[in-house]
Amino acid sequence: MKVKKAVIPAAGYGTRLLPASKAIPKEMIPIVDRPTIQYVIEEAIEAGIEEVLIITSKNKQEIEDHFDRDLELEMILKEKEKYDIKQEVDKISNMIDIHYIRQKKQKGLGHAISCAETFVGEDPFAVILGDDLVVSQKPAIGQLMEAYEEREAPILGVQDVPEKNVNKYGIVKYNKKEGKNYLLDDMIEKPTINEAPSNLAILGRYVITPDIFSIIKNTPPGKGGEIQLTDALKTLSQKRDVYAHNFDGTRYDVGNKMGFLKATVEFALNRKEFASEFEDYLKKLLS
Ligand code: G1P
Repeated sequence: MKVKKAVIPAAGYGTRLLPASKAIPKEMIPIVDRPTIQYVIEEAIEAGIEEVLIITSKNKQEIEDHFDRDLELEMILKEKEKYDIKQEVDKISNMIDIHYIRQKKQKGLGHAISCAETFVGEDPFAVILGDDLVVSQKPAIGQLMEAYEEREAPILGVQDVPEKNVNKYGIVKYNKKEGKNYLLDDMIEKPTINEAPSNLAILGRYVITPDIFSIIKNTPPGKGGEIQLTDALKTLSQKRDVYAHNFDGTRYDVGNKMGFLKATVEFALNRKEFASEFEDYLKKLLS
């Protein structure tokens, strides 16, 4: 079965990006010239997703505005004959069908995902976390969608992380490796180095089946007192095969300031219109 729906949680406070995220949603803070959530939506579209649900919370209105039409702006750009920018702006509001739902209380990622139950219905669905941007030949979520279509089993996107960072992620334990796929037999949210069963971290990309919803309802608060998606997925893995897929691509943690800085520099260097001048500038600056 093809995966056509994606869920993008965007309800968090963004405390790691304060003060920038005080009055604007962290998802709207731009890297080069587009808000991080736009990169995530572009990844979904490139992978063939047809419908997106963004899970928001109060003070996230700007996300909806960004993907909506702005007739006044369109008119002004037309009058001023700024056709290139107009095309860019038009593209954003025509990208894909986006639905929104609010998570009324921030009780964790697992709880946020449970808000997608009606949207998802009986279909498998992708989850993309906006704190993780991935630059790759094939969209990271598309790689997982292919793995899902082969196996019809939930797939978590993972990559190796340094041992000292295992406490920042959901870490998986596998008992069988088949190429880039690992059959999981355990996972743990943000373990200490001693508790971590491996260095394979879940990095913000998932394809999940709808049987997760009834499990989330029965998942007690875990790490940080929050209802953790990792805990629900662990229960799921006890009932059916759940895989991790080691996806290709460079991943940036733009939910923290250093990751954000690195992504800004590298994304700018990857843009044709900025690359050569920006590279010269950096070379001079650092010489
Ligand atoms: C969430 C998940 C965690 C995952 C991480 C990826 O944690 O709970 O399992 O490894 O995203 O970035 P958060 O960073 O939202 O605390």
